[in-house]
Amino acid sequence: MSHAELDRLQACLNFALDTLRREMDNSQLPPLSQCSSVEHPLDDPTSYLPSTALFDARRLSLACLGELKNLVQSPLDKRMDEKYSAYGAASIDILIKTSIIDYMSDLSNPSEGIPAAELASTFGLDSQKLIPILRCCAANGWVRETRDSSFALNRCSRTFIKGHPGRRLNLSTPGFMSIVGVMPSWVMESDWKLSRSPAQTGFQIAFKTPLQRFSWVMQNPHALIPLADHLQVLGDMSTPGIVADYPWEQLETPIIVDCGGGEGGLVTAILDAHPSFRAIVQDMENVVALTSSIMKERRPRDVESGTLNVETHDLFQSQPRIGNEYSFILRHILSMYQRHDWPDKEAAAILGNIARALGPKANSRINSKILIVEMVAVPNVDSTATTSAELFLLDGNDKRLDYDVPSHFGSASKLVNAFSVHMLTLMNGCERSLREWESLVNGCGLRITNVYPLRAHTSVIECALGTRALL
Ligand SMILES: C[S@@+](CC[C@H](N)C(=O)[O-])C[C@H]1O[C@@H](n2cnc3c(N)ncnc32)[C@H](O)[C@@H]1O
Repeated sequence: MSHAELDRLQACLNFALDTLRREMDNSQLPPLSQCSSVEHPLDDPTSYLPSTALFDARRLSLACLGELKNLVQSPLDKRMDEKYSAYGAASIDILIKTSIIDYMSDLSNPSEGIPAAELASTFGLDSQKLIPILRCCAANGWVRETRDSSFALNRCSRTFIKGHPGRRLNLSTPGFMSIVGVMPSWVMESDWKLSRSPAQTGFQIAFKTPLQRFSWVMQNPHALIPLADHLQVLGDMSTPGIVADYPWEQLETPIIVDCGGGEGGLVTAILDAHPSFRAIVQDMENVVALTSSIMKERRPRDVESGTLNVETHDLFQSQPRIGNEYSFILRHILSMYQRHDWPDKEAAAILGNIARALGPKANSRINSKILIVEMVAVPNVDSTATTSAELFLLDGNDKRLDYDVPSHFGSASKLVNAFSVHMLTLMNGCERSLREWESLVNGCGLRITNVYPLRAHTSVIECALGTRALL
């Protein structure tokens, strides 16, 4: 009897895991272990960039594991798994919010484990509730049950210790679950089910507010800091990939302007790797005050010498940096201004302002670029042979494999799809496909000159003035 799909997936998984093992050895990384209570370099994408082959092997392993699970698991189990995964998320939230995680990491022998009853009495909780919550976290790989009803942190949960990136990636924002809860009725039954307005979404229903998401955050300072922290980590996760995988040496302009650059983490990382550039961080007035003080403290010499400038600029006003010297970065900016109002009114206004600043260079030999750093929605079709998907393969050799993994790595890109639904529910937005990016970019008198896949969930969409498009 032929088990063709199972056989091919197994072969593919073996190939991916063999490559993973070999590349980890080549990179002199320690073995991965769930019993370890020490963080592994691969656990923190904000500080460690794996080799391209290792990144690909990890992504392919995850894709195969997801496909194998889909193949082998019963649909009824799968459905229940999916539905109850919300409890898994809530359970780990409890360990973070109570600071149980910090307490467990401070134990004199953290890998030995601590009885749940002791944790319950220390934190004034009911052990009858805490044990199933901890077991749920153990089943999801966040903690280990070292003996009956005793639990220890594992390597993965160390990311939730205070100050670590997982703690700041604040997916447990108050109200998150209520937004998820109203999503089906918003889409199927509400008066707004056919509306594409950012003011008529699941967010307004869940939060009982007429305000759009960002206006609401601005008026609720308690939500602003966790969101800023979350966005910061989200950005930091792609910084090493942007610095290493975009060909900065080919950029002809001496000055990089990071529009809506927040605290300036991206440009400082670029300057560290490519000290011949100068950089400008632009943002709104209140953010610029903070960014200026951070930069004066961390990079006093760059600020004094003018290598690094921080300035107030509203994305919706004309770009003041006009001239042959400038290229521009927009990371996680245009996704905030989604396609809720065809044809992408706000995103087009922002891009148009920068495109007009590129204007005087039309007859110059120097090519200014606009680098859009965003997730790109790729259809998860059954084969790897689609043009847009090929653009996202880091290692072209993978295409020769006879594997059944969807074009955008199936479950390895689940995050992009879930994020799209999140943007939809919050603001009637959605991650754009490459075609949609092209249409937005071309509408502003620009063209996509290249798309650089990164060792991250995002890509760099490189644009320039002109008419000849990539696609
Ligand atoms: C999602 S964060 C991205 C920050 C940064 N680009 C990064 O990737 O780390 C969005 C940034 O855009 C800034 N922003 C939002 N609206 C803006 C506007 N109208 N003018 C200038 N900056 C704006 C915010 O202050 C924030 O720093």
